[in-house]
Amino acid sequence: MTGAASAYQTAYADWRRDPEAWWAQAAEGITWERRWDRVFDPSQGPYGRWFAGARLNTSVNCLDRHVAAGRGDQPALIWDSAMEGRVETFTYAQLLGRVEKLAGALAALGVGLGDRVVIYMPMVPEAAIAMLACARLGAIHSVVFGGFAAAELAARIADAGPKVVVSASCGLEPGRVVAYKPLLDAAIGLSPHKPDACLILQRAALEAALVPGRDHDFRAAEAAAAPHAPVPVAATDPLYILYTSGTTGKPKGIVRDNGGHAVALWNSMSMIYGLEAGEMFWTASDVGWVVGHSYIVYAPLLRGCTSVMYEGKPVGTPDAGVFWRMIARHKVKVLFTAPTALRAIKQQDPEGRLMQGNDLSSFQALYLAGERCDPPTATWVAERLGRPVVDHWWQTETGWPITAGFRGYGLFPFKPGSGGRPSPGYDLHALDDNGAVLGGSTTGNLALRLPLPPGCAPTLWNDDAGYHRAYLSDFKGWYRTGDAGTIDADGDVWVMGRTDDIINVAGHRLSTGSMEEVLAAHPDVAECAVVGAADALKGQAPLGLVVLKAGASRPPADIAAELVALVRERIGPVAAFKDARVVKRLPKTRSGKILRATIRALADGQSPTIPATIEDPTAIDEIRAVLGSAGG
Ligand code: COA
Ligand code: AMP
Repeated sequence: MTGAASAYQTAYADWRRDPEAWWAQAAEGITWERRWDRVFDPSQGPYGRWFAGARLNTSVNCLDRHVAAGRGDQPALIWDSAMEGRVETFTYAQLLGRVEKLAGALAALGVGLGDRVVIYMPMVPEAAIAMLACARLGAIHSVVFGGFAAAELAARIADAGPKVVVSASCGLEPGRVVAYKPLLDAAIGLSPHKPDACLILQRAALEAALVPGRDHDFRAAEAAAAPHAPVPVAATDPLYILYTSGTTGKPKGIVRDNGGHAVALWNSMSMIYGLEAGEMFWTASDVGWVVGHSYIVYAPLLRGCTSVMYEGKPVGTPDAGVFWRMIARHKVKVLFTAPTALRAIKQQDPEGRLMQGNDLSSFQALYLAGERCDPPTATWVAERLGRPVVDHWWQTETGWPITAGFRGYGLFPFKPGSGGRPSPGYDLHALDDNGAVLGGSTTGNLALRLPLPPGCAPTLWNDDAGYHRAYLSDFKGWYRTGDAGTIDADGDVWVMGRTDDIINVAGHRLSTGSMEEVLAAHPDVAECAVVGAADALKGQAPLGLVVLKAGASRPPADIAAELVALVRERIGPVAAFKDARVVKRLPKTRSGKILRATIRALADGQSPTIPATIEDPTAIDEIRAVLGSAGG
């Protein structure tokens, strides 16, 4: 066994021997207002709670303590906007100053302990400042990704019930300015819950009109506010809610607590990414996703690192060399991004020419997540970079990687297509459909033996029963990840795909069920199916097949175009729903179940085994013919 493998195995065995002692040790990295009564209390919540009885403030752990320790002049956050063509650096002292003031502004609007604040913002530093300001007050933020439409934002406002919404006048996408304010106004109109106030950051590209009495200018409010002191909260109090796609149209409100989150993320920075205070970390994602919450904002700041925040795309802003120039410019040590970003770069610069001429000497490792990295892309980038490329698997619910390669242990098993080994803290197995543990590299339902480690969602917002139903009820004593996969003889994990209707489009998690709900609402649609078809750039792309009602008045191509527009309007551009096709019938079993897996396989150009229970085999021939044609 190599030294690296044995360092990992020792850590994993130590954790397994005494999980509570292991996590208590990690918790020494956090500054507590009051230490815990119990490291783990199994009597609370759906499966127990970590650090019961402890008190802390997450913003103190991200900011104040680093300033107190002499890191005040070290950059905490570097914002690099390819869209605005400018870079802004915030030292720890400056970031603390901004957060204290914004917390004061939110408090002046009535926000206090336990109140919710929805944050609907583009990739600007004020998004991170707003998150940290909520943490300072003990308020619960809920960030909504900017690519969602008004109806999705409304659903989140309705469920979270925010006192205040923090937003911006606009976002900047290549070739277009996205006016956020009309979307926010529409969402507030749609939601039965109305916030008391909105704080609007005016961006130069497009200023928004403010609603008198409700809307306030972000900068003016911040400037006028008195700095606010941190409010200690219970370790088990929620830090944030992040809505994610579930198996129905209704998004799930994933809850993250303060204490377990701080411990797990602080620990992951050294264990997984091998980074210590003062080092440069760049996560090219969006604060609207869990990756952005954990690894743009909280984890690097908890550890005292410098976090790079990027507003732009991997290609086209202005070219496919921007990632390499960013690494050189900011002396990035570790980059974390989604495989789709690399596929976009590879597509435009297959020889990696734009990598050359950049000083990448600071660069140590590339981490990938959001979807499984296809082996050709992993190999392409590993060969060109000559650095470890680590695919690591996790989900919004867990908040930090379930499996990974570990810079902290020097362990990078490069097996393109595999997601690495379980992180200490996760007892991962593949189970058969009856919940029996499978061995010998057999594919099954990937499940985690309870309790989940610190940092993982303890529950859903206001919905313990929903949490139980969604994750704990299928296999007693286990958390069902919703992914299928296998664990090989070395202990490396291969995640093969979801067992439910969730698809991953450009690393964005979407529910085909929610798209079907939108299609089914069209007056001419009798029935429909949406599947995730393989896509060379985005990994998966949604494909909708619809059967029209008898007597539908307009040409099928017009209806298909309306359906594309409808999904964009109801869910948002992020759904990337561009392909709706009209068919005479959907393939179904005799009991009426739509054969979605068969449709997906056909869309991927495979020759699936057609189930013997199929109602009408000619439906398959029609799907083949329609998929082979130009669409519409
Ligand atoms: N606000 C408003 N609109 C947004 C948005 C935002 N924050 N983010 C994306 N959109 C829009 C895009 O403009 C695009 O609109 P269009 O249909 O008018 O072109 C649509 O949503 C789809 O966006 P995206 O999936 O990002 O596709 P793209 O074609 O713009 O870019 C990639 C393709 C591969 C470059 C891009 O998907 C990418 O950078 N992916 C990385 C993904 C990532 O970081 N995932 C996070 C998980 S780690
Ligand atoms: P999200 O909650 O948006 O982070 O999406 C989580 C889902 O994305 C997981 O359940 C997986 O299906 C998929 N996923 C994320 N990272 C990986 C990875 N490295 N390998 C395989 N699948 C992944």
